[in-house]
Amino acid sequence: TYVVTDNCIRCKFMDCVEVCPVDCFYEGENMLVINPNECIDCGVCEPECPAEAILPDTENGLEKWLELNTKFSAEWPNITVKGEAPADAEAMNGVENKLEQFFS
Ligand code: SF4
Ligand code: F3S
Repeated sequence: TYVVTDNCIRCKFMDCVEVCPVDCFYEGENMLVINPNECIDCGVCEPECPAEAILPDTENGLEKWLELNTKFSAEWPNITVKGEAPADAEAMNGVENKLEQFFS
């Protein structure tokens, strides 16, 4: 599966939702997550994210993101249409450790 990681937080560009063939993105206030049980591993969303926040969970160190994507995709509403990114999305792109600072 692919998972959404730290740099999505407060960037939330949403280009990813437009390309997913199985509509498996879910929307929180500050980020999106993927439902790992629905993702078919096509990889199409990975290059679409301007924040490079989508990664295959086979990469090292992504266990906590797999957990977070699994947990919140069960709680948050499905999103299939791109909305407006936060006004300061560009400024937030690349800020480190957003999970600790900004996640809600
Ligand atoms: Fe959707 Fe494919 Fe991305 Fe999985 S890898 S979230 S199926 S676009
Ligand atoms: Fe987030 Fe990138 Fe999608 S910033 S909302 S994972 S396009």
